[in-house]
Amino acid sequence: MTPSQFREEGKKMVDWIADYYENIESHPVLSQVKPGEIYNNLPDAAPVKGESVDQMLGDVYKDIFPGLTHWQSPNFFAFFPANGSFPGILGDMLSSGLGVQGMIWATSPACTEVESKVMDWLVDMMQLPQVFKTTSEGGGVIQDSASSSVLTAVIAAREKATGYTSNEEGTHNKLVAYVSTQTHSSVEKAVKIAGIGLNNLRKIECDGNLGMNAKVLQQQIRDDKKKGYIPFFVCATMGSTSSNAMDPLRDIGEICHTENCWLHVDAAMAGTAMLCPEFRYLLDGVDLAHSYCFNPHKWMFTNLDCSCFYVSDKRHLINTFSILPEYLKNKATESGAVIDYRDWHIQLGRRFRALKLWFVIRHYGVEGLQHHIRGHVRLAQEFTQWVSQSDDFELVVQPPLNLVCFRHKAGDDFNMKLMEAANATGKAYFTHTKIKGQVALRVVIGQTNTEEKHVKAVWELIQDTAKALKGQHQ
Ligand SMILES: Cc1ncc(COP(=O)(O)O)c(C=O)c1O
Repeated sequence: MTPSQFREEGKKMVDWIADYYENIESHPVLSQVKPGEIYNNLPDAAPVKGESVDQMLGDVYKDIFPGLTHWQSPNFFAFFPANGSFPGILGDMLSSGLGVQGMIWATSPACTEVESKVMDWLVDMMQLPQVFKTTSEGGGVIQDSASSSVLTAVIAAREKATGYTSNEEGTHNKLVAYVSTQTHSSVEKAVKIAGIGLNNLRKIECDGNLGMNAKVLQQQIRDDKKKGYIPFFVCATMGSTSSNAMDPLRDIGEICHTENCWLHVDAAMAGTAMLCPEFRYLLDGVDLAHSYCFNPHKWMFTNLDCSCFYVSDKRHLINTFSILPEYLKNKATESGAVIDYRDWHIQLGRRFRALKLWFVIRHYGVEGLQHHIRGHVRLAQEFTQWVSQSDDFELVVQPPLNLVCFRHKAGDDFNMKLMEAANATGKAYFTHTKIKGQVALRVVIGQTNTEEKHVKAVWELIQDTAKALKGQHQ
C-alpha cells in the first residue's frame, strides 16, 4: 500500500468509524451469536491473493459485526467500562502510524519523555503523592493492564523482601501476600506467576461495607510471623470490582510500614475519580503506598490499553527488572541520565502509549475530564435514588461513585432471569455479582457517551422486564 493509497483508505476508515459511533445505538449492545459462529463463518484458509480494503470492510459488517459486544455504546453498563474517545483513537492512530518501539530511551527519546511528562501531569491532576513524580525518588510508567501492574509490584516486592536474591536463587516459600476476599483476581494470578504460591496468599475477611478488615490483617500478619513466614506484600483496593468497595488504606498502610510489607494500591477504575477534589478523601493513605495503579482505559476516555503504574522508589523496579545484554548497551543508558522503561516492567518492546493519554488530556483539559466524571457519578446517584424509592427493588450497598449494586426483592433466581431477559433485548447490557452470598445486579455508569436518557432507559428496561417476568409467574 503506497502512502497515497493509505491516505485514501485511511479516510474511508475514519468515516467508517465515525458512522459506527453515529449508529452505535442501533446495534444490540450484547452480541447475540453462539459459540463458534464467527469462527465458522470465516474462510478456512487465508487468501492466496491480496484483497482490497473495501472487501475487508464489507466482511467486517457481514462476518464480524454480529460477534461484537458494543463496549462504546452509551447503553453499556456492564463490568467496569473500557471507555474510549475520539481523541484517544486519534492518539492511538498516531502511535501506530509512527510505529515507534520505545524499549529504551535511545530508541526514541520522545516515547520515554512524553510518557514521563504525562505521568507527572497526572500526579498533579489527581493530587497523588509527589514522590510518584519522575523528578523524585519514584516515578510512573504506563503498563498494558492493571494485571501487569500488580504482577510487576509483586515481583519487585518479592525481590525487595529477599534482598534481590530470589531472582537468582529461586523463589522463597516463606513469603506471604495479603489481599481481601474482594480483591480482584489479577492479584491472585500475580501471586501464582511470581512463584509465591496460592498457599501463601491470605484472603483477609471484610467488614460490613466490604472493605478489608485491618484488624484481621494485623492479626494474620502477626500469626504468620510467629509461624516463621515473611509477610511481604499487601494489596489494598480502592473501588473493588464487585461493588466498588473501599479498603481502609491508611490503616492498612500503617500496618504495612510497621510490618515491613510492600503496599500496592489497586484503583483500577475508581482511581479516575481522583481528578475531582471532592472524591479524593477515598484515597486517603495512598501516601503510604509503595505502588499504585489506575487504568485510564477504564474510566478516563483512553482507549485500551493504558494502565498507569506508580512507585514511590524506582530503585526497586530497576534492581528487579534491569537487564543489559550487549546489544542494548548505549551511551545514554551508561550516562545514567535517562529512563529506560524496559527496566520498569516485564516486556521489552513498548508502544508509544503515552500519545493517546496526551491527546485525551489535552483535548478535554482537566475541567473537561472533571465534568464528565462528575456527570457519571451524578447519574449513578440518581439511579440509586430511583432504586431506593422503588417498592420492588433494594440497594445492596451504598454506592460511593458510579457503580450501583441493587436487586429485585424476589430472590436470586428472579434477578438472574431478569438480567438475562433484559440483556437479551439488546437495548442495554449490565452484569451481576454476588454480595454477601446473594445475587446483586450491577449498573456501572462510565461509558463516554452515556447521558441521563440512557440511564433512565435502562432503569425502565429493568422495571418493565421485572413486571413481565412477574406476569409470567402469576
Ligand atoms: C479492581 C480491579 N483491579 C484490576 C483489574 C484488572 O484490570 P486489567 O484488565 O487492566 O488487568 C480490574 C478489572 O476490571 C479491576 O476491576
